[in-house]
Amino acid sequence: MNDLRLFRNFSEHFACVSASYGDILARHMNLSGRTASGSTVHIDWSTGNMHGRPILSSVKTLGQLGGVFHDRKAWLATDPGTVVYTVQWQELVPQETEGGLFWGSTRIEAGRVGDEYFMTRGHFHAKRNRGEYYTTVQGEGMLMLMDENRLARVEIMFPGSLHYIPGYTAHRTINTGGKPLLFWACWPSDAGHDYGTIAAEHFSARVLQRNNVAEVVTEEPKAAEK
Ligand SMILES: [Fe+2]
Repeated sequence: MNDLRLFRNFSEHFACVSASYGDILARHMNLSGRTASGSTVHIDWSTGNMHGRPILSSVKTLGQLGGVFHDRKAWLATDPGTVVYTVQWQELVPQETEGGLFWGSTRIEAGRVGDEYFMTRGHFHAKRNRGEYYTTVQGEGMLMLMDENRLARVEIMFPGSLHYIPGYTAHRTINTGGKPLLFWACWPSDAGHDYGTIAAEHFSARVLQRNNVAEVVTEEPKAAEK
């Protein structure tokens, strides 16, 4: 009897796998996709796109990233409309809800400003003790982590890499490859974002292209010398 049930489950699963995308989505929606709020979202792992509601999104262009890259002259020479990264995420509970979680994707395009790779602004969490998970699905890059004593380190990002970001740790992601870097994140709904500290003080290290290789430079080049 159990064997028969297993076979039926296997058959149903196999049928689901071999069905059209629409069928799979329909099954997902009918069987397991209901959230507490009644909304249904599904994920395109290959693009980072989330489909359904409610989904929030944010696009950052070079023109919006003044002061982020160390070579200001090179930054001024870029097209300000060039997209650097796109974030999509789901908030099923209000921000600052204790005990809740948010889920989202970040896609960083391939490119550089001078010798510095496209990257996110980076942030501490407003509630400093809150952690976060990242996992990479596409591309190659680095996750830069910096504690409150400005001690920085990097973790290599590649498809399948999993990264735990502890509390009290600023984090930034850098696309060091030739195609988009795509990763997913899960973070506490009451973590919040403190971008101001990094905007004012920067990270204590940068990732620059040197001899066609990504190199972590711990002594920041001074923008004024460029
Ligand atoms: Fe974060």
